Amino acid sequence: MKKTIAVSKGDGIGPEVVNEAIKVMKIIADYSEFEFEFQEAPVGGSIWKKYGTNLPEKSFNTIKSSDALLFGAAGLPDLPPGVAESCILKIRQELDLYINLRPVKLFNNLRDRCPLKEEFIGGGIDIAFIRENTEGLYSNKGAVLNNDVAENLMQYTRKGCERIIEYAFEYAKRFKHAKITSVDKANLLSPSKLWRQIFHEVGDKYPDLLKEDMYVDAFCQWLIRAPFRFQTVVTGNLFGDIISDEGAFLIGSLGMASSGNINPDKVSMYEPIHGSAPDIAGKQIANPIGTILSVKLMMQESFQSIQIAQEIENSVEDALLFGRTVDIKKDGINTLSTSQMGDLISQKIKERLRK
Ligand code: NAI
Ligand code: MG
Repeated sequence: MKKTIAVSKGDGIGPEVVNEAIKVMKIIADYSEFEFEFQEAPVGGSIWKKYGTNLPEKSFNTIKSSDALLFGAAGLPDLPPGVAESCILKIRQELDLYINLRPVKLFNNLRDRCPLKEEFIGGGIDIAFIRENTEGLYSNKGAVLNNDVAENLMQYTRKGCERIIEYAFEYAKRFKHAKITSVDKANLLSPSKLWRQIFHEVGDKYPDLLKEDMYVDAFCQWLIRAPFRFQTVVTGNLFGDIISDEGAFLIGSLGMASSGNINPDKVSMYEPIHGSAPDIAGKQIANPIGTILSVKLMMQESFQSIQIAQEIENSVEDALLFGRTVDIKKDGINTLSTSQMGDLISQKIKERLRK
């Protein structure tokens, strides 16, 4: 099965972590029926400095004609905010990537790095955050900014709510989750009222799933008090941005968190949730696991290979016992560079796929 992968390494640690994800994909190709052809599609700040655009047409054409996009990070400290980063929004909007999937899984072998006490971790943390990615306050609709007043329009549409909520229910079903939680602010906001109504309309088609509504403020404290309560969590754009970052903090390091910007009918984009981390760029100390787990999401969502996706995750779990990057280091376990971490995970994947 041949797949073309557009690769946008971006700025800062982007190239360092993406190189390790490509390493892993090459091993997968060696030991499975997949074949990957990688095509560079440069975007971000360093490309802006060269060509005056953060998303050259040639790069975007490469992205649009690929089967999936592997993305590093965009952002350079010597450029004004947004000059590099706005390519991300353009890609999301042009490709209508309405699903933002952000799994928050605490690996068993990384429980020592969770900031919560054992009693709060309970049976473990394994949550799929599913965030609407195109509407609401972040769409920048109705933006007004002058000296006396500033506003943005928070607009949800029926179509926008239905398609993300349907995806979330199907996700919960696919992974045999018992419960789905919807996060909103329906005691106050009209968009949330429509959202909640549609959540239950769609939910009626899934009688076996337990459905739960939660206000976003209450959710924020439950996520820390009892994260083991949650499995699939679906929410709008603004709340999703905030609660998924809170969630990402629970799994040991920003460098561990992966994401997919998905449209099942288009080219989807897979990237770690962290940025270009200029403070550690070029030092070969960045954690590549968030990017490698983004490849897991690519295999699972774009290429329907649950088995390989699972083996990537299992290999990360195995590897954490033998070596770690400095952000998650532990006494008694080797501290590794970015590329050594990629080598170790590749080795574990090889062992698993060979069987
Ligand atoms: P950041 O995520 O780049 O870094 C925050 C902190 O986490 C830093 O101390 C960094 O060293 C650490 N960190 C991040 N990734 C790591 C990894 N893989 N391994 C170990 N440590 C890691 O966020 P920051 O500093 O706010 O933003 C830096 C630049 O990245 C800015 O220009 C920002 O706009 C951009 N950015 C881009 C994103 C993207 O491309 N999707 C997302 C977030 C920020
Ligand atoms: Mg964010």
